[in-house]
Amino acid sequence: MEPVSPLPDHLASSAVAKLGVEEGDAFATRAGLRWPDLITALENVYGRGGLDLATRLAKVALEIVTARPPDLRRLDRQREIDPEWFQRPEMVGYVAYADRFAGTLQGVRDRIGYLEELGITYLHLMPLLMPREGVNDGGYAVADYDAVDPGIGTMEDLVALAADLHERGLSLCVDLVINHTAREHGWAKRAIKGDPRYRAFYRIYPDRDEPDRYEATLREIFPDTAPGSFTFSPEVGGWVWTTFHDYQWDLNYENPDVVVAMAEVMGRLANRGVDVLRLDAVPFIWKRLGTDCENQPEAHRILQAFRAVMAMATPGVLLKAEAIVPPDDLVQYLGAHDDAFRPECDLAYHNLLMVMLWSSLASRDARLMRAALTRLRPAPASTSWVTYVRCHDDIGWAVTDEDAATVGWGGFSHRSFLNDYYSGSFNGSFARGALFQRNPATGDARISGSAASLCGIELALRSGDSAQVEAGIRRLLLLYNIAYSYGGIPLVYMGDEVALRNDFTYLEIPERAADNRWMHRPAMDWVAAAKRGDRQSLEQVVFAGFQRLARTRAAVPSLHAAAAPTMLSPDDDAVFAFARRHPTSRPFLGLSNFADFERTVDAGVLAAAGIDDPVTLLSSDGDLEIDNGRIVLPGLGFVWVGG
Ligand code: GLC
Repeated sequence: MEPVSPLPDHLASSAVAKLGVEEGDAFATRAGLRWPDLITALENVYGRGGLDLATRLAKVALEIVTARPPDLRRLDRQREIDPEWFQRPEMVGYVAYADRFAGTLQGVRDRIGYLEELGITYLHLMPLLMPREGVNDGGYAVADYDAVDPGIGTMEDLVALAADLHERGLSLCVDLVINHTAREHGWAKRAIKGDPRYRAFYRIYPDRDEPDRYEATLREIFPDTAPGSFTFSPEVGGWVWTTFHDYQWDLNYENPDVVVAMAEVMGRLANRGVDVLRLDAVPFIWKRLGTDCENQPEAHRILQAFRAVMAMATPGVLLKAEAIVPPDDLVQYLGAHDDAFRPECDLAYHNLLMVMLWSSLASRDARLMRAALTRLRPAPASTSWVTYVRCHDDIGWAVTDEDAATVGWGGFSHRSFLNDYYSGSFNGSFARGALFQRNPATGDARISGSAASLCGIELALRSGDSAQVEAGIRRLLLLYNIAYSYGGIPLVYMGDEVALRNDFTYLEIPERAADNRWMHRPAMDWVAAAKRGDRQSLEQVVFAGFQRLARTRAAVPSLHAAAAPTMLSPDDDAVFAFARRHPTSRPFLGLSNFADFERTVDAGVLAAAGIDDPVTLLSSDGDLEIDNGRIVLPGLGFVWVGG
């Protein structure tokens, strides 16, 4: 390997000039350490231009740290000393739209107590920066990265919220849409005015020639409501690349100025007190003719460059990849590449686990889940997944043909089954969701619906069947038990903790009616939440279940994110079993029964997990029951065993 050019000397001296000897030297040390990563990544993408861009970005890093408030620098220092801070089992996340959850950012501050009651230590607020007016894809069409959506508050409110959270030991995650801006963003406005610097921020084509050639291999993200990936804009006199909706203009990362501008945005947001930047739609940031323009190597390199810049400037801040991609493309976002580990994002969504949870629940069969998760490469030890059951998006069935074949199923037919099952059209299905973005050309579709509705609680309540309500609750907690123990930061999607069902009020709002993802983006039902105090109410049972998960998790050292799960093979297809062990702790075994009825498995699974003296840490039912050498698991039951 050729040696990389050294960190420019003047950077260290200007750091000392700007920050004083101590802080300046600390910055220069970090910059020196991260410089090789930065330059390697950028030379890889921009060739000879890489050095120049790296130098510009290192300067941006210095500007960010110069503007960084002292309390945040202190937090940086703490986290530099304690880099595992986000991997500990105490970490439990909650995901909500600020307005749907509490009206405003001020309202969120008033609800921190509720989050604490649930055991939450990490709050992800959905897009909260100034969106375009009118339809805005749930806030993912940002018109100004430096302002908060006036409907929920101001930047000052965000700063105050972050400070409150920090004081109480919680961290804050905020969405940063890096793939595109709204066409009303200042950059786009200047492009429209004809400013060549800003025209070059986007991908604008004079005619259909290139767009057609690209579209030959592009996947449609919203085939139903936003077909195609280009939009003719009379204002700029050309076809603009719009992967998502026509009002979301893709940024052009071939232009180094875009990388610099986005690094500056990241720094400003981090300096408001945001601990985790959820980088939205990262698989799409690099385009290559003849491919689907997703997960391109350059996209990873650019993320690595962002990682290096932020590590220089704000070492306490994490990057989270929103990459909902096929299993073979997933772990690369955590820096695990075929040839080497290259620091990239610290957190990434475990969408394979999420998909497999729903797959196992519908099929009452955990074999596909075991096979797919066995094949997935583990997360690098310094990173962490975020594990989840539901989120604000639809569920896309990331079931590969290869994985399906290992259990004798067809990929397409299993995906179709899951769509039928969760949209409720499959005979006997307990689920009440809806198809999202059905593509008649390919036969593909995804699923919308809240966790509680998909687990059968909606249908059971409607038909007044209390046994089925109970089964629905067991399903919901069964799925969440795995999210809380499998490895990574579990995320509770707002409302799941009190089993909120689908909400159809979105149909009355014209900008939302065409997007059924709104059925699982309800406003928080605080009346329902108040029932968490009523003994044996639905809400109380579910909420208490979530509390137990968090409380138990926090006390089990093996659930540290660095302890990778190992899949076990119990002798019943409906039972999912995995073991975990952190070097400094005792082994952990998780067993989950996806069948509706009792199942038993050979107790040899305990020894396979390294457990010879089993202790029940948590279970859906009583203590671990072993009968005649077989572990007895009630229908839809789970147990956490320590040893
Ligand atoms: C991400 C968001 C999704 C949004 C898309 C475009 O996937 O999670 O809600 O539609 O990006 O910004």
